Amino acid sequence: MSDTNFEQLVGELERLESITASWPASQQQTLQAIRTTIEQIQAGAFRHLLRIVKEQPGGLDALSEAIQEPWVANVLMYHELLRPPAPSLHERVEVALETVRPQLASHNGDVELVSVEPPEVKIRLLGTCDGCALSTLTVKLGIEKAIKEAVESIEVVTIVKEGPARATSSPDKSPFEQHWEALCDVSEIPEEGIHVAESEKASVLLTLVKGEIKAYPNACTHLGMPLDTGSVKNGILTCAYHGFQYLLSSGECLTAPEIQLPRYPTKIEEGKVWVQLTD
Ligand code: FES
Repeated sequence: MSDTNFEQLVGELERLESITASWPASQQQTLQAIRTTIEQIQAGAFRHLLRIVKEQPGGLDALSEAIQEPWVANVLMYHELLRPPAPSLHERVEVALETVRPQLASHNGDVELVSVEPPEVKIRLLGTCDGCALSTLTVKLGIEKAIKEAVESIEVVTIVKEGPARATSSPDKSPFEQHWEALCDVSEIPEEGIHVAESEKASVLLTLVKGEIKAYPNACTHLGMPLDTGSVKNGILTCAYHGFQYLLSSGECLTAPEIQLPRYPTKIEEGKVWVQLTD
């Protein structure tokens, strides 16, 4: 089945739901009860399935591969058995900029994100924000504060004059398109320790277990907090925030066995670690 079919089915579901919105309340309640019961049955079945597959030799690798498939990932995320991917640095900075845009707009100004390369973010001021030295300073301080609060790895915000046109989403582009990115040298990853590499797409946690490099999102499956501030002991990573524990070898969550850190495919070329990320 193709991704297009998946999206068509979701669209069909939304169309059917919009029809039921005009039904009498008692019928809507009955429908909701049926839906909730079916979802509980499905979630229970998936939970059992995940547990059984994980216990099989090679089961975790098979699951990691399976959740690369949007059909599988979407259904598991719907049932909260898999965390959605953590937002990329780029997305987190954009969210921070959204918080200051209303204020800029009230003075006919705007801001455009040019690049995110920790520890620096480059922005471009638009409209009346551009050109006035005093307002530029005031605006920069406000934007800088919002960005630094949202992304702790950003230390410098630079205003540039030129930048790429604001990105618009392409209707032809699949939201699940993947690409390989060289994130660090092999020598930077400690055996049974952790190393974090930042890409514009994601913050990636890398580890070396029995000679094999593993890459996971640097985001706890509990509340999405960064995992690199946690501690590692005996091959187990403990999240610094509320203590969720993960096996570094597989990403399996020991605290909530039905979920696990999804694994990024990796490869090594000329001493560099390449990680396959989803756009
Ligand atoms: S965010 Fe990691 S345990 Fe809560």
